[in-house]
Amino acid sequence: MIIGSISENKTLEKRISITPEISKKYITNGFKVKVEKNIADHLGIKDEDFVKEGCEIDSRENILKDSDILLQMNLPTEEELDILKEKNILIGNFNVSNNQEKVNKYKSKVSIFSLELLPRITRAQSMDILSSQANLAGYKAVIDSFSIFKKAIPMMMTAAGTIPAAKVLVVGAGVAGLQAIATAKRMGAIVFATDVRIASKEQVESLGGKFLVVEGSENLETEGGYAKEASEDFKKKQEDLISETLKKIDVVICTALIPGKKAPRIINEQMINNMQSGSVIFDLAASQGGNAAYTKPNEIVEKNGVMIVGESVILNKLPVSASNLYAKNLFNFVLNLYDKKNSKININLDDEIISNTLMK
Ligand code: NAI
Repeated sequence: MIIGSISENKTLEKRISITPEISKKYITNGFKVKVEKNIADHLGIKDEDFVKEGCEIDSRENILKDSDILLQMNLPTEEELDILKEKNILIGNFNVSNNQEKVNKYKSKVSIFSLELLPRITRAQSMDILSSQANLAGYKAVIDSFSIFKKAIPMMMTAAGTIPAAKVLVVGAGVAGLQAIATAKRMGAIVFATDVRIASKEQVESLGGKFLVVEGSENLETEGGYAKEASEDFKKKQEDLISETLKKIDVVICTALIPGKKAPRIINEQMINNMQSGSVIFDLAASQGGNAAYTKPNEIVEKNGVMIVGESVILNKLPVSASNLYAKNLFNFVLNLYDKKNSKININLDDEIISNTLMK
């Protein structure tokens, strides 16, 4: 069985799907691995690093023609699909809800697995690309927002006077939000957080954050652990609570999302008007419309001295770490698909990990 990966458009996508370390693991399990020439040179990973682990370097065309399994971040182009081996297994993060038309076309030729559709169950945790990438995004959002913020973060008592600790609000305490809380705490900030899922209160507090409870609110959590859209009553109470809190906040990290919907608008124009000049809002929900007013993807907008940073490609800023985790997630997914004894792929639709991610 040949596992392959070809270069992505490196201006848009800096992550890779197979690292030298992971190719060695595939080879140990009986696969042959082929990657395109210079696939990871932009990350400081040379072709020799792959070859050392037993991997073959080949042309784009040969890899598309020969691979039984193709591992990518994004969907290949239609031209690449034309060359791709019939009945190939294509695995990646294909953002199916936004690429429905292409996926429908492609699936008549190849079997497509899109890993953003994995069930959030314990057995799938090692394959969970949403968690591995969101965790890094939460970390990097804090690092980047603190580097834009023009004051020190921890409290410092010096002979020249005392610098107060910066106050951070994390909006949405899922995977990215919890990592943002942990990172901001480690750097000495005082951290507040809000979420519609009451289960996140305990997690926020265990990291040393202060959870803002919307009084009288019901728990807006689905059975799958995701957020439900908030009622008008909840939104009003949350708005009052956040408006008051924001007046004393220096840095806001926005991560709130509702699967399959536009990101909830949580910070409005009025709230931004009342914030202290010099504050930073870092909006990781930018590509889904943003949690804050004025957010524009990949732009910094300034309003009354408040900087609103719309970030939608943050993983391109730590592509080596993101690739290491992503490649490991894919490896665990492939192993679950693989019948090692008979050296063949077994698409067992009774396995919810397989049936949820396969495009049928
Ligand atoms: P996400 O990326 O869809 O959303 C981020 C956060 O925003 C969530 O915590 C959500 O509740 C919150 N949110 C949505 N609307 C909001 C609003 N109006 N105001 C404030 N907050 C709002 O979620 P993510 O990070 O992917 O995690 C969702 C859930 O999945 C969590 O419960 C997490 O613990 C669970 N999970 C379970 C795993 C497992 O394997 N068992 C693995 C990973 C996550």
